[in-house]
Amino acid sequence: MHAEIDTPALLLDKPKLERNIKRMAEFAAGGQAQLRPHAKTHKCVEIAKLQLDAGAVGITCAKVGEAEALADGGIPDILIANEIVGPLKIARLVKLARRCRVTVAVDDADNVRQLSEAAVAAGVTLGCYVEVNVGMDRCGVEPGEPATQLARLVEAAQGLSFDGLQAYEGHLQNVMPFAEREARAKLDMRKALSASQHIEAGGLKVGQISGCGTGTHTITGRLPWMTELQCGSYATMDAQYAAVGGATYENALTVLATVISRPAPDKAIVDAGLKAITPEFGPPTVLVRGAEWVDFSEEHGVVTLAGPAQELRVGDKIALVPRHGCTTVNLYDHYHVIEDGAFAGTWKVAARGRCQ
Ligand SMILES: Cc1ncc(COP(=O)(O)O)c(C=O)c1O
Repeated sequence: MHAEIDTPALLLDKPKLERNIKRMAEFAAGGQAQLRPHAKTHKCVEIAKLQLDAGAVGITCAKVGEAEALADGGIPDILIANEIVGPLKIARLVKLARRCRVTVAVDDADNVRQLSEAAVAAGVTLGCYVEVNVGMDRCGVEPGEPATQLARLVEAAQGLSFDGLQAYEGHLQNVMPFAEREARAKLDMRKALSASQHIEAGGLKVGQISGCGTGTHTITGRLPWMTELQCGSYATMDAQYAAVGGATYENALTVLATVISRPAPDKAIVDAGLKAITPEFGPPTVLVRGAEWVDFSEEHGVVTLAGPAQELRVGDKIALVPRHGCTTVNLYDHYHVIEDGAFAGTWKVAARGRCQ
């Protein structure tokens, strides 16, 4: 398999990726909310462009560094769905806003003042979403008076524009059974609605309510108050989302590894360890019938073999589906793009390691 590709390597099946992008675009087109896919998973200009070509209104990022890498590739409209704090990052943020439309999440009054000063000094306008805690208990203010006060502060600040609410229900993406995920998402996302109603009762317009992930999109994406969907993993998928019911989307992402030792009939050692595939959420799925991943070390993976898998020989290549795509992609400089089973060139993981 793929004699021309050395291992470990990150493989991306382009037709599967394209079908996933089309399916999510069609889902969004069937409702009122627009798609602003999160690029934290793929970190790749080429993929972001395919998403925009399919109708996405812009791209979401987690970090200024990711946004810079995508802006370098020509992405024109970026939401950084996180708080950007401190003079060094704020200076980069306003510089970025000279090259593309930038929106940022806020949940702190001092941060809002600092963003405003920097935006005025740079002669730019930063869009701001007030982040509302919808139950993830990470960043965000509570709906009601705290969110409304912050929205008013943003609206009054020069160089900033109050464009809406950041409301991500990350705590619900993997909840099983699905019926429980559905009930909780419907309940928790009412906090975004209630924050919006409170702000609008005070006379301000809430342009966007933005949130949602791959695991909740069929629920949150149909709540009538949501205007923007930030789903990310659907494009490439991973074994975790497959395990919690993401069957609509195909796994486009694999790590190719080589068997480097066969110490026993029922055991193979491959050249992909913790530096090639992350263990977060659990072991990768081995795409060989009868093979199962049992252990990681830095540069080795231990796989047990039963039945037909025992035919594996030293030098054979095997494909692994990472349990978590986002953190595994971040280990690679390039995707090896596969079309109709054949190697079709590389795409850069442009925002790899851009965690500042
Ligand atoms: C702010 C934000 N929005 C959306 C997402 C959704 O991403 P995914 O579809 O990969 O679950 C994430 C994932 O972590 C996120 O942090």
